[in-house]
Amino acid sequence: MRVAMIGTGYVGLVSGACFADFGHEVCCIDKDESKIERLRAGAMPIYEPGLETLVARNVEAGRLAFATEYGDAVREADAVFIAVGTPSRRGDGHADLTYVHAAAEELAPLMDGFTVVVTKSTVPVGTGDEIEAILRRARPEAQFAVVSNPEFLREGAAIEDFKRPDRVVVGIEDERARPVMAELYRPLNLNETPILFTDRRTSELIKYASNAFLAMKITFINEMADLCEAVGADVQSVARGIGLDKRIGPKFLHAGPGFGGSCFPKDTLGLVRTARDAGAPTRIIETVIDVNEARKQAMAARVAKALGGEVAGLTIGVLGLTFKPNTDDMREAPALALIPALQAMGATVHAYDPQGVAEARQLLRDVEFRTGPYEALAGADCAVIVTEWDEFRALDLDRVKAVMRRPLVVDLRNVYRPEELRPRGFTYVSVGRS
Ligand SMILES: NC(=O)c1ccc[n+]([C@@H]2O[C@H](COP(=O)([O-])OP(=O)(O)OC[C@H]3O[C@@H](n4cnc5c(N)ncnc54)[C@H](O)[C@@H]3O)[C@@H](O)[C@H]2O)c1
Repeated sequence: MRVAMIGTGYVGLVSGACFADFGHEVCCIDKDESKIERLRAGAMPIYEPGLETLVARNVEAGRLAFATEYGDAVREADAVFIAVGTPSRRGDGHADLTYVHAAAEELAPLMDGFTVVVTKSTVPVGTGDEIEAILRRARPEAQFAVVSNPEFLREGAAIEDFKRPDRVVVGIEDERARPVMAELYRPLNLNETPILFTDRRTSELIKYASNAFLAMKITFINEMADLCEAVGADVQSVARGIGLDKRIGPKFLHAGPGFGGSCFPKDTLGLVRTARDAGAPTRIIETVIDVNEARKQAMAARVAKALGGEVAGLTIGVLGLTFKPNTDDMREAPALALIPALQAMGATVHAYDPQGVAEARQLLRDVEFRTGPYEALAGADCAVIVTEWDEFRALDLDRVKAVMRRPLVVDLRNVYRPEELRPRGFTYVSVGRS
């Protein structure tokens, strides 16, 4: 199949490269010329494990190309994917569909022969209808079908997730799209991936419902962590104890500083907006958003409390800036709430992240970025582990203690166990454990 992928970000680039690896002929398009230039030169615009090799292999094989113009790629495509960003609209939390609409407007005049236009971006219920209307208005005579095919990959494990997903969801209104979508994902039949065909609105909603459910699960365990601290219980054991129940499952039950990232914050807001507009408010998810926001804000107070209530004039060494490990994505990262709050209380912040520093520099002020974990902790009165990169799981604790001014660790990801740190003379504060 010939595929045009509009939007070459975390989702578009990974999906495009994986479709090429399935054997399809793919052109990834982006308006960001510097991104396309870098890709053409063999450099990755994002950090994602395994991506560089995958892209190189498929470029080499002649199945993957990059462009800044829609032109031939869209004209020749059997399927045109829209994988552009859908950030929160300022003010009301509704998904901003500017980029989606612009992509539809631009591709409309180029469709040639029967074309399946697939929305991979996360979009509110009804967006497929809007795209169809845009295309129909521009090309009353054209043969096309608009499909919803939301993406569930996780940054940091994106290639594995795309190639071995739990399921593929496809929402169609026009039966002609079914064989095209089935053919695109045919290689997944090998590992018997369920492909759920449904109608377009249902498919659009499945994506939001999935993310909202996962965000709710995280928020639930975070509240249990607070309760554990208050009553002298251990949240790790609570998570294990409930997670072994197959009806609950063990995933997304890690207590921490609150969820961030490019999806959960905006998608929970988006779902709440859609639900309110439809007159069927989701009070649970509204609460999840409030609880999570308050939690992110509360993390600075937790650090201050560990320091005896006063951080003015002190130095905090922050380990980890990205919203999770194995990505350079800083969108809505808990570090973006924590660090300015500590600075506002008068602290000096030194920080280190294996991949996020370039992006963090654009988003944070007056932070001294260091080249490694020990450098970030040198002279610090407190270490705060914000992201659970593997690199922070096996620190040389004696060295940590030697370089710090005070042996105090606030571990917001429960990377360590109290029994590991306390006998070494550290004061150790974690989440949901007394
Ligand atoms: N990042 C994730 O983990 C993830 C997972 C699942 C779903 N999603 C969804 O996928 C969509 C894309 O997310 P992302 O993280 O890849 O975003 P991103 O910001 O990394 O990439 C979007 C890209 O689209 C390009 N673009 C914007 N308008 C364009 C246009 N008119 N024509 C061509 N290119 C255009 C931008 O330059 C950018 O490179 C969003 O709707 C998101 O919610 C993201």
